Amino acid sequence: MDAALDQLPLALRAEIDEIPTLPAVVSACLDELHDPNSNAQRVADLMLADVGLTARALRLVNSSIFALSREVTSLSHAIALLGSARLEEIILSVTLPQLFGKGPSGPLVKRIWEHSFATAFMAREIAVRAGWPRPADAYVAGLMHDMGLMVAARCLPAPIHDFLKNAGHDPAWNLAAEHDALGADHTEIGLALADHWGFPEVVRESIHHHHAPADHGNAVAIIHVADRCAESGGLAIRKIDPEVVEELDLTTCCHEVFPSSLSIPDDLDLLAGSADWASQVRALVRELVPNG
Ligand SMILES: [Fe+2]
Ligand SMILES: [Fe+2]
Repeated sequence: MDAALDQLPLALRAEIDEIPTLPAVVSACLDELHDPNSNAQRVADLMLADVGLTARALRLVNSSIFALSREVTSLSHAIALLGSARLEEIILSVTLPQLFGKGPSGPLVKRIWEHSFATAFMAREIAVRAGWPRPADAYVAGLMHDMGLMVAARCLPAPIHDFLKNAGHDPAWNLAAEHDALGADHTEIGLALADHWGFPEVVRESIHHHHAPADHGNAVAIIHVADRCAESGGLAIRKIDPEVVEELDLTTCCHEVFPSSLSIPDDLDLLAGSADWASQVRALVRELVPNG
């Protein structure tokens, strides 16, 4: 399980060791949600033992991104309105920023969070539109896909800034150049972090292969396209050239990477280009991320 960690340079390994593991109450909630006989009320009861987690979850549910018509004041009410399947998304959305909370902040860290939440929301939308029946997995994989960059931003700020300054000239992400700059690329670093947090294979695969999704299945293809949607919507981590964004055709991107088991959504350019959506993600990051 530690194979990915062992491949990293010492500074990155030490950084991942410093990051807290998932809190016990979060792991217990995820175990319950992954149990085929899972019971939403049991998850709500587990969450209630952690006042901070419950409060953050309710703040997220009441944010504009969920667009609920009235205020939700209890977890039971949230589950009744949204369904238990969204609990995993909510729990991880409010937990991961806390685990990184004591690290450095700044424009790069903010861009990584905005891009990660943007990719997560787009991945869920694409999964629903493409007919993949696991939108919660798509969301979590989207949230995690570039977390390797967050680790690098914490311990190798100068090399990652230098790399990102030049990365936007390439329509594809240049993993080899990133590897040269950091001693590992963010898919390798992210994989080690996913192991540290005990994430399942679907998340590990999505992190590892999202820049080269061919033959890696539905989740990886969805994350690849969601990643491009986030960049197309103006929520990119790198300083991407405007011409590169303009040339992005998200429907063509789906045709290139989707396995035949996924339908091609026909409204992704419209969805990614919506100003409302991008501003909701930015507002959400200000709400959820310490110093965000
Ligand atoms: Fe990436
Ligand atoms: Fe990305």
